[in-house]
Amino acid sequence: MAGGIFISIEGADGAGKSTQVSLIKEFLEKSFGDREVIFTREPGGTTIGESIRALILDPKNEAMSDMAEALLYAASRAQHVKQVIKPALDAGKIVICDRFIDSSIAYQGYGRKLGDCVRVINEYAVEGVMPDLTIYISVTPEVSKARVMDGRELDRLELEELEFFERVYDGYCKLEKIYGNRFFVVDGSQTVEKVADEIRAKLGDFLREFK
Ligand code: TYD
Repeated sequence: MAGGIFISIEGADGAGKSTQVSLIKEFLEKSFGDREVIFTREPGGTTIGESIRALILDPKNEAMSDMAEALLYAASRAQHVKQVIKPALDAGKIVICDRFIDSSIAYQGYGRKLGDCVRVINEYAVEGVMPDLTIYISVTPEVSKARVMDGRELDRLELEELEFFERVYDGYCKLEKIYGNRFFVVDGSQTVEKVADEIRAKLGDFLREFK
């Protein structure tokens, strides 16, 4: 088996990503054909990464500079790639990652207006490991903001204004165009079942190609 398969799941806050990740877990269970499947997430995925996650998302850390935020996401990613993703791919596994480099480009590059330096920083973090497929659940900034405001406790990024979510959305639209070869876009305003059906169909076809 030559190398594993790396799939990232992307979407703005409120896109329904967490629900879809759980449904993908049910769909793939622990293996697909001969391959083991592992699920992981960013920021986080390692003990060090989870500590960084808590630091970044804590609403108390409102003094955090945009660049510090970008570097912390990249630091979490560097640890995650080295400790979890790369070894799993080297062992021929399927890695499903809830958010990866595109989140940093959309949120820090576009949302925080840090620009292309975010991509450059992350090139160091990922050591050439890039997704073979990115499932992007797309919702408009209005839907995104409305859904996150719906009741639960918000983390530091979810507390941002609508303009921030508009820039994030714009960032994902750009990424979709640049990386059209690996981006699979699903309309996240549809019902949970319809979104899940589209994702399952794509995943099934995509993974069968590797058999
Ligand atoms: P996540 O846990 O996926 O949030 P949710 O459970 O609300 O979908 O991600 C946490 C937040 O971190 C989310 O607002 C997106 C943000 N984020 C970035 O800004 N840059 C990044 O590189 C990553 C991985 C996440």
